[in-house]
Amino acid sequence: MAESVLRFGMVGSGYMAKMHSLALRNVEAYSWPDLPKIEMARMADISPEAAETGSRRWGWREACTDYREVTRADDVNVVVIITPNSSHAEIAIDAFKHGKHVLCEKPLADSVEAAERMKDAADKSRKVGLVNFVYRAWPGVELARQLIAEGEIGEILHVDGHFFQDYAADPGLPFSWRFDKKAAGAGAFGDIGSHITDIACALAGPIARLSAISKRIHEFRPGPGPAASAVTVEDLTSVLVEFTCGAVGALHASWAATGRKCDLGFFVTGTKGSLRFDWERSNELHFFSSSDPQRTGGFRRIVLGGVHPGAEPFWYAQGQGLGYAEGFVITLRRLIEAVLKGDTAVRPSFHEALHISHVVDAALRSADQRVWINVPPTKAFA
Ligand SMILES: NC(=O)c1ccc[n+]([C@@H]2O[C@H](COP(=O)([O-])OP(=O)(O)OC[C@H]3O[C@@H](n4cnc5c(N)ncnc54)[C@H](O)[C@@H]3O)[C@@H](O)[C@H]2O)c1
Repeated sequence: MAESVLRFGMVGSGYMAKMHSLALRNVEAYSWPDLPKIEMARMADISPEAAETGSRRWGWREACTDYREVTRADDVNVVVIITPNSSHAEIAIDAFKHGKHVLCEKPLADSVEAAERMKDAADKSRKVGLVNFVYRAWPGVELARQLIAEGEIGEILHVDGHFFQDYAADPGLPFSWRFDKKAAGAGAFGDIGSHITDIACALAGPIARLSAISKRIHEFRPGPGPAASAVTVEDLTSVLVEFTCGAVGALHASWAATGRKCDLGFFVTGTKGSLRFDWERSNELHFFSSSDPQRTGGFRRIVLGGVHPGAEPFWYAQGQGLGYAEGFVITLRRLIEAVLKGDTAVRPSFHEALHISHVVDAALRSADQRVWINVPPTKAFA
């Protein structure tokens, strides 16, 4: 499908509107002349003020308060969904039904049942559906995936992954939808744990079974208004996992990990080598190969740059550094290329994101019941 103009609509005008709108404004220039012209047609938010301010600030042509004016609009080809998790399904399914391509923020939904319906709607529509597990597209993570696929570290034995932040460590942080199970579906493990789970599965394949433990640290948070609200999700979760490939490992997530700002990292150990990544040093990947001579062998610090996957449109010199914002450009470029080619198999896919929803759901049930739980088998991540 050749498109000379691609028109975007966005639903949600909160934090993620900043990242996605900036990326939309820049992706065409970074990739010039390879991509079509991008038009930012319409932004919806249930809050009229948020819709109005967001659209003016980020350069959207029009603002509205009903998402259907985006999902059903004739002048929109691609819908970007960046609302609280419990509203993703309704909006995405409506968009697919009305012939739109969809970029949906992670986690796919607030429940496995909703994620399943979204995956079915994506399949039925034959439109492009991509889930923004933004860290997976990162050059250091994609390079790790390529090195594993090329056999550089042999057979994977162990995956140790974590995502720790401390933005919710303060009990005075006001109540928001993230602390409400009905709106979010899960706490730290669904919010940021889904990212490291997605990366672990992209590197080692699907998870077959798991055993988890969770903790709620703060039972109440201030607001809305002068009242306090009961928190109904967990603040931290640790999960022992066994992958379908036979590798084992552990995944941890907490949003109350004092001092750890955006500490997403993994250590993957294979029979012939290892890989290590740390987001707080996100322009580096560490690679150990046991075929190096023992006298001089050790972890190589690979400094990332334009020769690495996804980083091609940016700066010429390796080490000049990419950041979180460029991650969204990488994802959008991947989405737009998929739309141009009609490539409905683009990743992270709705099928893969459904598996992550199953893992999050199984982890919370395991923590609750104190038992090992089998995760439904999947062909995703093959
Ligand atoms: N990939 C990442 O790194 C990353 C980071 C942060 C958030 N997220 C995801 O992005 C999504 C949004 O998170 P956020 O931090 O931007 O939230 P936010 O609270 O800052 O913004 C959400 C916005 O959606 C609006 N909204 C709520 N329901 C709506 C509806 N039905 N229709 C239209 N607008 C509606 C709200 O008024 C609000 O303005 C979540 O799914 C979250 O998990 C992803």
